Amino acid sequence: MKSAQEAIFPNTIQDSPVVLTSELRKIYRTGFWMNQKVISLKSCSLQVQRGETFGLLGQNGAGKTTLLKLLLGIIRPTSGRGLLLGKPLGDRQTKQRIGYLPENAYLYDFLTGWEFLVGSANLFQIPPNIQRQRIPQLLDLVGLSKFDARKKQMRRYSKGMLQRVAMAQTLINDPDLIFLDEPMSGLDPMGRYQMREIILNLKQQGKTIFFNSHVLNEVELICDRIAILNKGELICSGNVTQLLGTKNTYRVKGQGGNWETLQEWIPNLASLSDGCWQGELQGEIYDFIASLRLMGGYLISLNAYRLSLEDFFMQKIQGKM
Ligand SMILES: Nc1ncnc2c1ncn2[C@@H]1O[C@H](COP(=O)(O)OP(=O)(O)OP(=O)(O)O)[C@@H](O)[C@H]1O
Ligand SMILES: [Mg+2]
Repeated sequence: MKSAQEAIFPNTIQDSPVVLTSELRKIYRTGFWMNQKVISLKSCSLQVQRGETFGLLGQNGAGKTTLLKLLLGIIRPTSGRGLLLGKPLGDRQTKQRIGYLPENAYLYDFLTGWEFLVGSANLFQIPPNIQRQRIPQLLDLVGLSKFDARKKQMRRYSKGMLQRVAMAQTLINDPDLIFLDEPMSGLDPMGRYQMREIILNLKQQGKTIFFNSHVLNEVELICDRIAILNKGELICSGNVTQLLGTKNTYRVKGQGGNWETLQEWIPNLASLSDGCWQGELQGEIYDFIASLRLMGGYLISLNAYRLSLEDFFMQKIQGKM
């Protein structure tokens, strides 16, 4: 029989999820005497399967970047363990197959975008003939082909352009697994749209994408699965459609009935100047209609809408779900 560890950590690379962590924990020590503790990540166990687009959500300081850095082997966990592409975190060969867009990418100001990409390609020992093909393709993909990335130093780039060139650099080694820390940061609406298209395109190519984002409507459009971190703790993870799909919220407007009883059904009940009331229903719609009839009230309008990821996230963070 398999031990608990073997059951979590499969023996072959083929049967392993692309990202697998078990009780990963990170405590930073700070202060002059290093005697103060900051618990950045409490105990994080999660899995990301091959080809999945996985979104990690959380407020500022929730521990998202910390988790990404642990997965990439940039920092070491205080305890717990993980596998990336079937190999222990920090494995050098695995890094060849990974792309990483950092939160605040440091780009060498005095290099042109082209020189920067050539330098990155050299680090991966990509042959010059492949570089000559790949770099223009990547500049085209990130929407910089018309902008003269060959000649302009990056200190003359706008924030959005820097983010785009950083994305091109992330993909320079044609990675199988891509980590993106706030990829939409600094992008205008068109830039966000293009970034979404790039991510969806990568997904179509079968790449696995793990990203942190505060732009929840984009996450909802792109991700197969999400996880929410709150103050270093993983409070929820699952398939986006399953998490949101079953929940319908009803906005109701009506007239008459007993105000106190109505308030039990509609916590945010508000009266309107035309003598009607309205609010969001909590409870079964058919039971409410029956109850309203008994109270002698009637319904004027009923609008059903699905919970958005933003609503879901807010309710989870506020502990309402
Ligand atoms: N090097 C460090 N030393 C000490 N504390 C740190 C360090 N890096 C991060 N922290 C702390 O760990 C916690 C989590 O930080 P982290 O950067 O992972 O958050 P985040 O979820 O990425 O936030 P944001 O959305 O603002 O990027 C924060 O309280 C932060 O102050
Ligand atoms: Mg961060």
